[in-house]
Formats: sequence, C-alpha cells, structure tokens
Amino acid sequence: MGISSVGVVGLGYIGLPTAAILAANGVSVTGIDVNPQTVDAVNRGEVPFVEPDLATYVGGSVATGKLRAVASPEPADCFIVAVPTPFQDGHEPDLSYVKAAAQAVAPQLRGGELIILESTSPPGTTQKLADWILEARPDLSLDGTDGRPVFHAAHCPERVLPGRVMVELVTNDRIVGGLTHEAAERARDLYRTFCHGEILLTDAKTAEMAKLVENSFRDVNIAFANELSVISDRLGIDVWELVRLANHHPRVNILQPGPGVGGHCIAVDPWFIVDAAPEDARLIRTAREVNDAKPGWVLDQVRAAVAGTEAPVIAALGLAFKPDIDDLRESPARRIVAELADEYPDAEILVVEPHVDQLPKELANRRNVVLGTIDDAAARADVIALLVGHSAFAQVSAGSIVDAGRVLSFVGPVAASPA
Ligand SMILES: NC(=O)c1ccc[n+]([C@@H]2O[C@H](COP(=O)([O-])OP(=O)(O)OC[C@H]3O[C@@H](n4cnc5c(N)ncnc54)[C@H](O)[C@@H]3O)[C@@H](O)[C@H]2O)c1
Repeated sequence: MGISSVGVVGLGYIGLPTAAILAANGVSVTGIDVNPQTVDAVNRGEVPFVEPDLATYVGGSVATGKLRAVASPEPADCFIVAVPTPFQDGHEPDLSYVKAAAQAVAPQLRGGELIILESTSPPGTTQKLADWILEARPDLSLDGTDGRPVFHAAHCPERVLPGRVMVELVTNDRIVGGLTHEAAERARDLYRTFCHGEILLTDAKTAEMAKLVENSFRDVNIAFANELSVISDRLGIDVWELVRLANHHPRVNILQPGPGVGGHCIAVDPWFIVDAAPEDARLIRTAREVNDAKPGWVLDQVRAAVAGTEAPVIAALGLAFKPDIDDLRESPARRIVAELADEYPDAEILVVEPHVDQLPKELANRRNVVLGTIDDAAARADVIALLVGHSAFAQVSAGSIVDAGRVLSFVGPVAASPA
C-alpha cells in the first residue's frame, strides 16, 4: 500500500519542515501539535520560528490544501513522531513526550499504518513506542499474530543543520531502521518522495544508536580540544598555535577549543548512551564532564582578570551556542554571564550579541546586565571575554578595535564573514 496521507506529530524545528516538504511533494499532511498557537500559526501559513525558506513551503502547502494543522491525530497511512526528547535532572532520558504521542496516535490506527519515530532517542525507544501502542490497542500486532491487523514501526533520525534545514532535508543521506525489514522499506519509500541522498536501511536500535554516536563523536573530539586548552594554559602554551601546528600532521585534525558545549544535540545526546550502558560508556561520560566543566574554567580566568578592580565593567562577547546564529539554547556563554552577574553584583556585565535585540529572560531582569555594542565594550570594559566566534567579532579577535591585553579569547582567532 502506498502512503498518500501522513500525520506529523510535533510541529517544531524538525516536524514542521518535514510536514511542509512532504506536502510540497504531493502528500496530504496533517500536522498535529499540542500547542494551539502553533496550530493557528501553521493554519495561517505562518512559521512560529526562524528557518530560511520554510515559510515559503508552509505558506504554499497550506494554500494548496496539502498541509493543515490540528490539535490531535486523525487517521492517516503514516505517522511521523517528532516530539522533544530532553533529559531529566540526573541525565536520564525523558520519553514522556514520545509516550504521549504514541497514546494519541493509537486510537486512530486501523491496521497497515507505518509509525516513524524521528525524535532523537535512546536505543530501544522505537520498540517502546510500539509497545505503548500495543498496550492501548491489543487488537493490533507487529507481525500478524493470531490474524490481528499489523502496524509497522521504524526510526529515522534527523541530522539537519538549523539554518539549512530545507536544503539538507533533500540532500543529506538518511538512516532508516525498522523493527522489521518491511517497516524499513516502507519508510524508505516515503523519504524517497523528497530525499535525494542515500537512504541506508538497518534495524531500529542501530538507527537510534547511529544518531547518538554522531553527536558523541563530536562531543568527545571537542572535549579533547577543551582539555588541551586547560593543560596548555597551565603549561604556558598558546593552545591555538599548538592545535594549528599539530594539524599539519597529515592524519591529525584537532577541533577548536571553546567555552563549553551548548545546543540541544551535542550536549544532550551522549547522555542517552551513558544511560543505556553506564558501566561501559566511560569515555563518553568523561567527555560530557570535561565539556560541562569548561564554563567553570572560563569563569576562573575572568575572575583572575578582574581581581582587584572595583565595580568592574566586564564585556561578554556572544551569547549564542555557536558562531553566527541566533540560537541561545543551552549556551555555555549564557551560563557564564548569569554566574558573573550573580558573583559581581557591583559590576556591569555588558553583553554584546549582534544576533538578538533583547536579553534572554533570566538575564533581562538583572540590574547589572545590559545589552551593548562592541564600541561600548571597547570604550568602557575593564575585561572583554570573547565567548562566541561570531564573524562580527573578527576585529576584536585580531586586536584592532581594543587593546588585545584586555581581551580574553576563549574561541581562538575569529574569521570575518566573506564579503
Ligand atoms: N532541532 C534540531 O536541530 C534537531 C536536530 C536533530 C534532531 N532533533 C530531535 O528532534 C526532536 C524534536 O526536536 P525539535 O527541535 O523539533 O523540538 P521542538 O521543541 O522545536 O518541537 C517539538 C514540538 O512538539 C510539540 N509537542 C510536544 N508534545 C506533543 C504531543 N504529545 N503531541 C503533539 N505535539 C507535541 C511541541 O508543542 C513542539 O511544537 C527531538 O528529539 C530532537 O532531539 C532536533
């Protein structure tokens, strides 16, 4: 049976682009979200967050009637689940959103449907999702036991880069893992409607692990660079020069150190591996700990630089979790600024973040934190902490705007954006 209708559960950064691209390729799509504002925005053809080109896809698909948003699932040939999978206080995965999605979809199944989990998930979650559906619908099965109607389940992790989502949905290779081979083949046929990359089939657990491993690979390598920066500082070595020289070896490629690791993927996903195999995931856990400790080391450097200065003006350059974006989620710079504000009530913490026009909530209501410009920082700051390598900070990094002696760079040399 071909798939002509799809329900996408969760219309966020991943679900809405997926819904829109399927609709633009002729599939009838119902987007389902528990947030009524999101449902209303999508039905007006609007996108509730920033992602280049997405508004054109959503507006066009809503206008042709191929995409509409609703509050709860309706019958469809396939459901794609793209709800959040955060971790809890002790870093254990929180699968409550996936469970809620499974329980919402279950009553709509008639037999023959494909359920695809796109949320980044610990190994075994696709099986759990199927089990939650079976709990609600014991009249169905995964394999036709006792002649009960079948449903299929697969995992297809997402590896798109925010800011390039509409391009990478089409061009990236994808991994599709089924609870059965038939489920994987059905999912492949659906993704083939818009994906021009290679589609690689495997089992569901391997597909779940592949996504986690991709982000852990990045995390472990960044931890190596971050540890080198701390060691180099102790030994009086310039880590940026060290990395540059070592990378001339034909088989060495050390990443750049930074003030920590942020965002909602690299800083989160490795914990799912640690949770799944706590005894064995020693390197992966240590990398997380090394990266999580880096903002504390940055704070120590700033403390040392302002020691003895009365009511210092401390400029923090950058709040985003990586260069040249406006995404502040889980950003180490944000944590550093909040701690400085707590620790130095008489200081002025001058935040320069050219990609936002207001401070995030937890900083906005603090008397000693203000949003300013590079010129303010150059004119008034006692110490300037360069926390994000935005290309807008290239001149500061090069020492040509302010006296380089006042600048503590935690991101290394910053390149200006190409004109
Ligand atoms: N954002 C990324 O760049 C990215 C990249 C790869 C993977 N992922 C993974 O994709 C998944 C989704 O992430 P996101 O960034 O799109 O999240 P998001 O927070 O942007 O969107 C999730 C949406 O799901 C909705 N929702 C929550 N529970 C629901 C339910 N029971 N029924 C219907 N809607 C529900 C929320 O209202 C929200 O609109 C996560 O597992 C994430 O780790 C995200």
